[in-house]
Amino acid sequence: MKRAILAALGLATSLAVPAAAEENIKVGLLLPFSGVYAALGNDIEAGFSVALEQFGSEAGTGFDIVREDTEVKPPVALGKAKKLILQDKVDVMAGVVSSGVLGAVRDMVHGAGVPLIVANAGNDEATGTSCSPYITRMSFSNGQVNRPMGQWMYDQGIRKVYTLAPDYAAGRQMIGGFAGTFTAAGGEIVGQDFTPFQKTQDFGPYLAQAKASGADAVYVFYAGGEAISFVKQYDSFGLKADLPLYGSGFLTSPLYVNAEGPAAEGVITALHYVPTLDNAANAAFVAAFEAKTGRLPSEFAVHGYDAARALVEAAKAGARDRASLADALRQVSFDGPRGKLSIDSATNNIVQPVYVYETVAGEGGLTQKVLAELPAEADPANGCEMAPVSN
Ligand code: PHB
Repeated sequence: MKRAILAALGLATSLAVPAAAEENIKVGLLLPFSGVYAALGNDIEAGFSVALEQFGSEAGTGFDIVREDTEVKPPVALGKAKKLILQDKVDVMAGVVSSGVLGAVRDMVHGAGVPLIVANAGNDEATGTSCSPYITRMSFSNGQVNRPMGQWMYDQGIRKVYTLAPDYAAGRQMIGGFAGTFTAAGGEIVGQDFTPFQKTQDFGPYLAQAKASGADAVYVFYAGGEAISFVKQYDSFGLKADLPLYGSGFLTSPLYVNAEGPAAEGVITALHYVPTLDNAANAAFVAAFEAKTGRLPSEFAVHGYDAARALVEAAKAGARDRASLADALRQVSFDGPRGKLSIDSATNNIVQPVYVYETVAGEGGLTQKVLAELPAEADPANGCEMAPVSN
């Protein structure tokens, strides 16, 4: 009955039907479906649906989905989270792409005791000083994907680096993670700029400064629409040959690398997933995702896929309500497309390897050539004092 009403209102989609007449688990998908990260939100949702189709029948219950658009705006996202929690009374939420949005909804999620499976946002504080037994991250932390590149680039002989990133939590934390290990290895950051987030169209003035800085290389974080503009402008400025471009791998995500085109060739970045990883779980994922969408999955798709897989695992373990789902989610571990995944119980952040990859021309367009696999390391606790689930 409840499902019928929700469906009539266009608010919920049922993705699996339980065998018994038990109520489905109600899931709030909190993602950007508009704004600079809209394509990322759509890919996460597609990965989420593929996993529910593939594994949902093992859950022992069904899932009703209510989706809300954060618009990549923290105040909007907070209002949508409130609606999902108080009005829709969801049992669990999944999603959040921007670190700024995660920072904004953290207290609401923690205070209401609603489990949130983070399916992108890397905000270090969410699994550090602001950690919560209700927040489990199935994606990455900003420090985790950038720290390994400091030593790796130093080992390649690079000594002086100029950094660039958007001016919000993710940009600052990603660059901080890289700069910390690069300078500890003996390298020097010769200049840094943080560009206005969602407002910078012309990167020219920043590129001119990078060029004049005497750097051996540039290291950046940009994602979504900003990544496409940045990579194209970097190339058309003629910088690529003399000042090689490095960064966190979102810069050249398979989701939009074709929009970047030849400008992305030769860019070297690091990430926790590329679709070219050679393992059985990834082969099954790539095939299922391609069959559904007609394109290769990105890191965003795998976050959605693994978030839904984690939810199924929690349901399989018998979890149904907010507290039991929160408890079960932090204990999941499985072999996924990224390899063996587990959750660090000290922080609730995922533990996974990081891959250095170069974007190269392949037979069917641009592809990701893995240059190195850097071992999985749990993040430092970063001030996290994990409380128990309390309701
Ligand atoms: C973030 O804001 O945490 C974020 C956004 C987009 C990415 C990665 C991280 O591709």
